[in-house]
Amino acid sequence: MSDSTRPVNLKKHFIAFDTCYPLVNGRLTRRHYLDSAASTLALRCARQVADELLAHYANTHSQAHFSARIVNHAYDWSHRQVLNFVGSTDTERHLACFSGTGSTASLNRLARILAAQRPERGIVLASLMEHHSNDLPHRKYAGQVIHIPLMGTAPISGAVDLAALERLLKQYAGRVNYIAVSAASNVTGIVNPVHDIAALAHAHGAWVVVDASQFVAHAPLAISDTGAAERELDAIVFSGHKLYAPGSPGVMVVRRALLEGQEPDELGGGMVDEVSVSDYRVTDRFPDREEAGTPNIPGAVQLGAVLNVLQRMGMKAVHAAEQRLLRRLLAELTAIPGVRVYGDPDPERTPRLGVVSFNLAGLEHGLVAAVLNDYHNVAVRNGCFCAHPYVRELLKPELWELEIDPDADDADALIEPWRGMVRASLGLYSTDEDIDALLTGIRELQAHPEKYRVQYRMDRNGHFHHQTFKVSPESLFDPEAVLNRLCPDVKPSLN
Ligand SMILES: Cc1ncc(COP(=O)(O)O)c(C=O)c1O
Repeated sequence: MSDSTRPVNLKKHFIAFDTCYPLVNGRLTRRHYLDSAASTLALRCARQVADELLAHYANTHSQAHFSARIVNHAYDWSHRQVLNFVGSTDTERHLACFSGTGSTASLNRLARILAAQRPERGIVLASLMEHHSNDLPHRKYAGQVIHIPLMGTAPISGAVDLAALERLLKQYAGRVNYIAVSAASNVTGIVNPVHDIAALAHAHGAWVVVDASQFVAHAPLAISDTGAAERELDAIVFSGHKLYAPGSPGVMVVRRALLEGQEPDELGGGMVDEVSVSDYRVTDRFPDREEAGTPNIPGAVQLGAVLNVLQRMGMKAVHAAEQRLLRRLLAELTAIPGVRVYGDPDPERTPRLGVVSFNLAGLEHGLVAAVLNDYHNVAVRNGCFCAHPYVRELLKPELWELEIDPDADDADALIEPWRGMVRASLGLYSTDEDIDALLTGIRELQAHPEKYRVQYRMDRNGHFHHQTFKVSPESLFDPEAVLNRLCPDVKPSLN
């Protein structure tokens, strides 16, 4: 499928698609943004909806005036967009609530809530591929977290091993509170069969919390794939900044029964019916009950607008377009001698979304990322991507070669700053041209490694700095300079 046959030619609809930066050779070129797994670019029309809402801005806790009514309508609409997006229209059964800073806030909140619901079940099973945000909160609030192994062997491991999961559920019968699993990995894009996992969990009385942060922008996700209750996900979490809505809050969709009858996790304004100096009565109304304080209203509405646009485009079409680019990227990268791609690279055997992590033999990931940026304007992420256990697992053969024990308990000794990977990740605006630029950069660096290496010095954190090419961030963007341009008449006060 060429770019013109994508669901809609969307490139121009993204803010900053055309941003240019200078390169070492002095040329100013358009950036190739291949870091969408960290954060996606902003969908302009959704941002505009949020900006236009500001003409009516008011607090959602106000009720009587026009602006308050408008803002409440828009905020409620955003909750409905979230539920529609995951195929739930049953507001008696499911609820959506916005939750502070990204997915992390929702996952911490769920970890606290679910631990309090069933203290007698002290075990959480988390997959080995989880982002720290879907691992550490459970370590903190559950009695014990046990990691579920993956299929296959490193470096081409696959999805969660369902047989191993079932063994764990039987071994710890009656003690597993819930399973925490990502719908897709932020390191390899590998997709987990979350509805099969839900069916297994429910057969053993456990719940399932799905971290969909890396999934929802790339493929359709339904709260239940068949409509059957046993395959229904008990909680889904994601973040607007990975879904073309930077500045929006995190969100969770939860089966209402998991929250009912329990004191809300946070208390404050907007969620109580009656308060005296000695007592308070929390409202029965959802989601207000779970959204203490004034919410990030423009952010939530921006996210709601993105979800609406994506639904209009159809997530199946979004997925199909991305798969074509992903398959090309995987095929071409794995064909280059000296490139090691992590995770099973066969998308027929192991479904994956648009995230590919790799290393170039003999070259530090930090050097690769720096050269791609400085010489080719290709923006990639490098390091361990907040998923140290998974990265250790994938790097096992390389760590063994270095006589490092990847299974040792010492968290610091194993993954030194320069042990990690380079990650290229796709968004709706990604093109063949972006992939060409990445592949050109890789081939060029492999052809002349020493020519590039001598240009860089590595600091103590494993970051590579060009010796002579220095571009300060403020020369490209300085908030104060923008303010001076926008408000030339507002001068700094003398007092
Ligand atoms: C799979 C996954 N889960 C959770 C997170 C944390 O998301 P946030 O930064 O929105 O809290 C990320 C962010 O990279 C992620 O990729």
